[in-house]
Amino acid sequence: MNMAAQGFAVVQAFEHDVLAGLNAAQKTLPCKYLYDEAGSRLFEEICALEDYYLTRTEADIFARKIDAMAQALGPDVTLIEPGAGNCAKAEPLLQAMYTPAAYLPLDISPEILFAARQRIQQRMPGLPISPAVGDFTSPAVWRELPETAGRKVVFFPGSTIGNFTPEQARSLLGLFADQVQTGDGLLLAADLVKDSVVLERAYHDSNHVTEAFNKNLLHRINRELDGSFNIDAFAHRAFYHRLRRRVEMHLVSLKEQVVEVCGRQFHFAEGETIHTENSHKYTLATLEELLHSTGFQPQQYWTDHQQHYAIYYAEAV
Ligand SMILES: C[S@@+](CC[C@H](N)C(=O)[O-])C[C@H]1O[C@@H](n2cnc3c(N)ncnc32)[C@H](O)[C@@H]1O
Repeated sequence: MNMAAQGFAVVQAFEHDVLAGLNAAQKTLPCKYLYDEAGSRLFEEICALEDYYLTRTEADIFARKIDAMAQALGPDVTLIEPGAGNCAKAEPLLQAMYTPAAYLPLDISPEILFAARQRIQQRMPGLPISPAVGDFTSPAVWRELPETAGRKVVFFPGSTIGNFTPEQARSLLGLFADQVQTGDGLLLAADLVKDSVVLERAYHDSNHVTEAFNKNLLHRINRELDGSFNIDAFAHRAFYHRLRRRVEMHLVSLKEQVVEVCGRQFHFAEGETIHTENSHKYTLATLEELLHSTGFQPQQYWTDHQQHYAIYYAEAV
């Protein structure tokens, strides 16, 4: 499939998933659709927020340990990054790596991906870069990646694994395992369980950027699927669910209302929510269990002094 066809497939899937999600008993919208061009930019703003400790903490670990990570990954490696976004974390890693063979970023949002490719290509002109647009949970998208010789490492930073339920995370890492050979690697970052006040502030920041990010999904539906959402009639809500070990993000209907999408009508009771994102939190033990159960042997991990965040290097067995 070429780039235009991949983009078209993403649009069709968006319509299908939104209609199915709004028809469900607990209305839900898959969080991957938060990242259109505007959403990707809002996410970059979130990453710079004081309240959003995740990016800051991860950046600190990378800054201190990037050489150790590059050494663990080894020479002549093809780095594959599902959900690469602006590729900002891959760039210093590629620079620290010994003769990286190629970089294959994959993302559902084409605009941010192609801007990033141009930037990295200018700074590392000899490095083959082949971006692919699509849903990284779909094996079809992985088949679009070019064949490369030598070892591969899947790079999955940003705690994106947290957006998947434990069962979904197992099948996703299982899919990653299917793409690599024994001895190939996985560099995986995850946010760790911590005080709920710290967690909730990260997803309900005082600058209201996460609120804008969440509500942008309604703007996107209005624009792309002929929706009639009154954005002001919905509120942003984020809370930590202790038992499920996840922060849930919702949009709450502030009144009883009917909304049209693609010519279909959806009823909302006052207080009814659309569940838009999960951010699951791990412990070192549950992360290692996840890696083992999907065919990866943890080799090394790096964390911050508060153990708020962890980055694991594991190899396929
Ligand atoms: C939390 S951001 C992380 C971005 C980057 N990896 C980082 O660490 O800063 C998630 C990125 O993954 C992309 N994404 C989320 N779900 C996806 C999916 N199912 N398929 C492809 N891309 C996805 C989004 O478009 C966004 O760029």
